[in-house]
Amino acid sequence: MTTIPFARPSIGEAEIDAVARVLRSGWLTTGSEAQAFEREFGAFIGAPHALAVNSATAGLHLALEATGTRPGDVVIVPSMTFTATAEVARYLGAEIAFADITADGMLIDPVDVERVAAATVAGGGRVSAIIAVHLAGEVADMKALRDVARRYDAVLVEDAAHAFPSRTAAGYAGTLGDVGVFSFYANKTITTGEGGMLVTADAAIAERVRTMRLHGIDREAWDRYSDPRGRWQYDVVEAGFKYNMTDIAAAIGRVQLRRADSLLAARRDAAERYRESLLPLERENQVTLPRDQEGHAWHLFILRLAGGHRDRDDLAAALQDAGIGVSVHYTPLHRMTYWANRYPAATAALPHTDRRFGEILSLPLYPDISPAEQHTVADTVVRVIRDGIREGVK
Ligand SMILES: Cc1ncc(COP(=O)(O)O)c(C=O)c1O
Repeated sequence: MTTIPFARPSIGEAEIDAVARVLRSGWLTTGSEAQAFEREFGAFIGAPHALAVNSATAGLHLALEATGTRPGDVVIVPSMTFTATAEVARYLGAEIAFADITADGMLIDPVDVERVAAATVAGGGRVSAIIAVHLAGEVADMKALRDVARRYDAVLVEDAAHAFPSRTAAGYAGTLGDVGVFSFYANKTITTGEGGMLVTADAAIAERVRTMRLHGIDREAWDRYSDPRGRWQYDVVEAGFKYNMTDIAAAIGRVQLRRADSLLAARRDAAERYRESLLPLERENQVTLPRDQEGHAWHLFILRLAGGHRDRDDLAAALQDAGIGVSVHYTPLHRMTYWANRYPAATAALPHTDRRFGEILSLPLYPDISPAEQHTVADTVVRVIRDGIREGVK
């Protein structure tokens, strides 16, 4: 019995009406809604090209494919991420090299990226791409990462699955590298159920992605069928993928996009409420709280415990016993069976990632979480930690 879920999408009558409108229209798959969503999303974040896809995983795959990652290349990613960030390189026959996070944060460390890139090149390898993950909605150090990418002639991809609409002085996350990819999965800051968006300023990358997301066909289905006098002919120029977004999903996305600023404000307010309630624990050096960094999208509220993983596991169990959903973002990839087997040496090289993994716990955070629900969560955290973590577990 979960009384306060870990995640809950914010869906209103406008999203439901938008879906009903598409269902009644006679055109369900990629068409005018998806095209409008792309235009509106691109305008929102200032990206010249925005391409809707059916997941961020698909977008990341297309990003690497379109920017020239080939079998045997090396793609550098943080180990502190979801497996999708890394698996897409394997789809293309490329290898992964894991970089550590910074000593005091959650995000990929440009200094360690440089170390990994230098080691790759020294071993005769080619770094085709670096993927920066804006974990929880906090923006990675893109200026430093751009410098490293340039030195190694690598493409810089932003995994912005958590980071809409993260905005820094330099622009929105997703527009700070060569290609940016957003996720609209059900728990994300805006959702289409399943979905994603790839953005780029590079017309050639956009063109390749446009072709590859729909079977390598040179024209989109919409172009072929929307005009009764339209040409029926099309050509297949590559062995592409089936990664297009439906108009049903895009219609939801357009409404969510219009609500993006108010959804962010609600998340920020909720994060601030947690910070106020949990500040006493931070003053006692029991926890470290996430800060409202410039441009934070507040996808996640990640608490860091001073005590290490046994305390974290016990606090997680106590919260779950109290009917509160929790999660950990992330168990590092190099501790997962597939990645550990493939890259056994990575384990030794990621001290900050390993330490941070033992400290972190994500609390429920979403626009519609009520102050009363947050009060229950924070009260339980405080009580369990104050009582001594292990005694708090029934
Ligand atoms: C950091 C990160 N990258 C990529 C993805 C993949 O997103 P999607 O589920 O839209 O494929 C996720 C999904 O949770 C994620 O958290």
